Amino acid sequence: PREFYLSRHGQSEYNLVGKIGGDSGLTEAGLEYARRLADFAKDVVATKVVVDEKTGEERREVRPARLWTSTLRRTKETAQFIKQESVTFKWDNNDEGNPSVKWIQFKGRARRNLDELYAGVCDGLTYQEIKEKFPEEFARRQENKLTYRYPRGESYMDVTLRLEQIVLDIERTREPILIVAHQGIHRLLYAYFMGLPREEAPFVSIPLNTVIELRPHAYGCEEKRYVLLS
Ligand code: F6P
Repeated sequence: PREFYLSRHGQSEYNLVGKIGGDSGLTEAGLEYARRLADFAKDVVATKVVVDEKTGEERREVRPARLWTSTLRRTKETAQFIKQESVTFKWDNNDEGNPSVKWIQFKGRARRNLDELYAGVCDGLTYQEIKEKFPEEFARRQENKLTYRYPRGESYMDVTLRLEQIVLDIERTREPILIVAHQGIHRLLYAYFMGLPREEAPFVSIPLNTVIELRPHAYGCEEKRYVLLS
């Protein structure tokens, strides 16, 4: 696409108490972000600004768009208002003297490859609890965050492999895409598209409540960040 958009889910119950992984739902603040994201989806992702050749005036036109979430509760809840409220709207072609009315939608899809890096035996713990229960694991992860694999879980490198298909799909999709996923996932996608070295990926800042717009060009991407809730 000409541009695509990365968003983490809104604040989850686990975010609030500092637990990693799991499959918790959203907090009140998370739901507020979900509502704002729905407006953003409608006004920015599924809209394009066209300049009228004759008058030079700008007008906004609806464009079809894609919505991908992970299969986890928190991303689906974050996208819920997009499906229910902003998704379907009228596109009136009266400009060309054509009275036909089209209905355009976000095409939504939940994809397992977008699920958060799985922390195996550490899933559902806080970092403090991991440090106490599995001190050696905690230390090893600090040594090499990119290749460290949680016992019975995944490493960032593992996740890179399952994101290959996602990257291919992003590259060949023509419509703008809004991807609602997770911190670890977006770190890798961001690093890939920005051309950052792999080693830096696990440390990229992907804050909550923020949409990152990426516009691919010949070498890397142009980036714009929208803070929807502070
Ligand atoms: O804390 C939110 C979260 O998405 C966790 O679910 C996940 O394990 C973690 O971030 C990934 O961040 P890091 O790799 O820095 O631990």
